[in-house]
Amino acid sequence: MSFVTQARVIQPGGASLSEGVFQQLRTYIYERTGIFFADNKKYLLESRVSRRLLSLGVPSFESYYRMLTNGQGSSELVHLINTVTINETFFFRNDFQFAALQDTILPELIKKRRGEKIDRIRIWSAACSTGEEPYTIAMVLKDKIIPRFPSLKLEIVASDINSHVLDVARKGTYKEYAIRAVSEDYLRRYFVQDGDKFHLHDQIKKMVDFRQVNLFDRNTMRSMRRFDIIFAANVLIYFDFNSKQAVISSVYNSLNKGGYLLVGNSETLYGVSQAFKPIHFEKAIAYRKE
Ligand SMILES: C[S@@+](CC[C@H](N)C(=O)[O-])C[C@H]1O[C@@H](n2cnc3c(N)ncnc32)[C@H](O)[C@@H]1O
Repeated sequence: MSFVTQARVIQPGGASLSEGVFQQLRTYIYERTGIFFADNKKYLLESRVSRRLLSLGVPSFESYYRMLTNGQGSSELVHLINTVTINETFFFRNDFQFAALQDTILPELIKKRRGEKIDRIRIWSAACSTGEEPYTIAMVLKDKIIPRFPSLKLEIVASDINSHVLDVARKGTYKEYAIRAVSEDYLRRYFVQDGDKFHLHDQIKKMVDFRQVNLFDRNTMRSMRRFDIIFAANVLIYFDFNSKQAVISSVYNSLNKGGYLLVGNSETLYGVSQAFKPIHFEKAIAYRKE
């Protein structure tokens, strides 16, 4: 809880974020992650980072910023990132996108790859948060694709910048909120309920390989290559125009020719990149690398 006074927001613990330190902190975060806190998001940065101040016992945002920028910075960066990223997600978040994936994108890609004598499809969920998106992909593959193409090798890589969400993802245990859009049939076949918890079956968990990747880090991105389908959904909204362009250009290089990029429902590549061809499906768009 925070208390609004006339001039500023006072966080529990008493520290408040001055305009000057806000500018420094947001630049620090932006340069390392591409995530941009606009002026109207100052309150968000303040309330999130104040939790970190409290748990470290650091008295002010100024001292915290000093800590980040002296020798201790690199070990604190991971905590700062875990604190400021927004990880909202759920299974089958965009069901029209998954319908396009199973009915058109995958069957067409598989046919094309087989024509090229390649019996392998690689999918990357590139901002996977707590794992609901890659596990949704895994369930769709298990249910709809593997029975039709049993000899096909399928790989699902899932990554996020936030180390904490990846730990949650690897466990594969979810609450009601996350599974609210999962069909009864999939719930019964792929989850075990234990009170208010839903444990995903090992057969689905084993299909996904989780790793930590910062989409804004060009060096790491150079090691992420040869994917047929990349989901970068509901992450572009946290970037400004320049970081969006930088990330999309790296993602482009990570895709095979003819591969597809899928972004969030409220996101678009319009004005960001002309390198892809938008392919329209019922209530979903995918971007193909030509
Ligand atoms: C709102 S979640 C989206 C989860 C999922 N893709 C979906 O659509 O439901 C956005 C995720 O992007 C991650 N993220 C933010 N900046 C990132 C970056 N530079 N590199 C990789 N992941 C990032 C956050 O940690 C967060 O988990």
